[in-house]
Parts: sequence; C-alpha cells; structure tokens
Amino acid sequence: MATDPANGRRGRFRIAALASGRGSNLQALIDAIAAGTLDAELAGVFSDRADAPALARARAAGAEAVAVNPRDFPSRLEYDAAFFDRVDAVQPDLVVCAGYMRLISAPAVEARAGLLVNIHPSLLPQFKGLHTHRRALEAGAPQHGASVHYVTADLDGGPVISQARVPVLPGDDEQALAERVLAREHPLLVETVRWLAAGRVQLKEHCVHVDGAPLAAPLQLGSNNRFA
Ligand code: GRF
Repeated sequence: MATDPANGRRGRFRIAALASGRGSNLQALIDAIAAGTLDAELAGVFSDRADAPALARARAAGAEAVAVNPRDFPSRLEYDAAFFDRVDAVQPDLVVCAGYMRLISAPAVEARAGLLVNIHPSLLPQFKGLHTHRRALEAGAPQHGASVHYVTADLDGGPVISQARVPVLPGDDEQALAERVLAREHPLLVETVRWLAAGRVQLKEHCVHVDGAPLAAPLQLGSNNRFA
C-alpha cells in the first residue's frame, strides 16, 4: 500500500495497468472505481502501442497514459527496463496486465513477484497462449472461461487466483464464445482486484494465499459477480 510521505498515512490502493489494445478490462476497473465499488485509484496505464484505445480510456478517466515503443530499444531486456521504470515511477501497489500482448522478460517479472497479475481468456492451465476460444471449440470443451493469475516467467503459467466459467453451447463460433467469456472477464477482474486491494490475496512461496491460508483451488466467480 502506498504511503503518503507528507503525513505517513496509507493512501488508496494504487493500480497500474498494462494494455496493448481495446482496454475493455481496463474500462471495467475504471468504471468500478468511479462507481465506488472498487476502493482504489488508477495510477497509470502503460502500453507498447501509442495507438492503443486503452490509452485513450486512461486519459478520459484522468489517469496518466504512457506509451513506450519497443522499436526504440535494441533488446527485450532493455525495453522492459525502460518500460518498468515508467511503471515503477507511479508507485503501484498492483500491476494488472489487461490485454498486454508482449512477453515480459524473466528479470522484470522476478523483480516484481507478487505485484503482477494477468487476465487470460481460458480456464488455466488449459489453453495457455493465443487463440484460446478457437482451441476450446476444437477440443470440444464443455466449459470455457477466464482466469486471473500471478505473472511468473512461465507464460500464462503462474499461480491462478480466480476463475469465471461459462458453458460452451451448441452452435457456438469463436466470436460468440469470446463474447460470452469477455462478459465474465470484466466482473472477474474487478472482484479479484477488490480482494487484492483488501489485502485478502497474497503470493507466498509461489502459492496463492487467501486470508492467510494456501488456496487449494482458484476462487470461483458466482452469478452475483462475487466469490463464494
Ligand atoms: C482479454 O480477452 C484478456 O483476457 C486477454 O486479452 C483480452 C484483452 O481485452 N488477455 P481488452 O483489451 O481488455 O478489451
């Protein structure tokens, strides 16, 4: 939790978001903060793409919006060092990857263990990587969904905090399934960040802990958009 050096008091929980594209998950956080249902503050949004709609959403919400161009750096390591210098400057309590499409180098991830989370459109550990909806359909999965997990150097392989499930319905195509999942991603991310901001979820020794105890299975989002 950020501390105000002027008075030593704990300030609001500060979220930095990383996003490469549309930013609908970011918008869900912005809307929840504005509605007073998420007690936090958006400290900044950071992108590898200057034209990302997510940056426009950040500006509209009055948050800092920063683009850092990967082409200006000779290597991923140097890019990540410069990019995370900007992120660290806003002193986030949590960094949310919300559609951030670049791999983050191991040193950058490991230096921020427990601080970085990602939302991924599958029920991890199923369907890591891209094209998750198509692959779920091809596999004949009866259920699909989304997961929020801690980011580790293992792509989409970090400890899973929470999940939202949807049925795969007869006649689904990739778009229909993607829309059904996305509609659950937004409340899943908001509820997960709420628990993180409340200090209820922590990463300890590579394991998710909730209210101080190791989590046996990911938290499941109920139809009331809360964890049971
Ligand atoms: C979401 O499906 C998210 O799970 C994945 O990328 C997509 C981003 O969508 N990581 P948006 O930019 O939040 O609208």
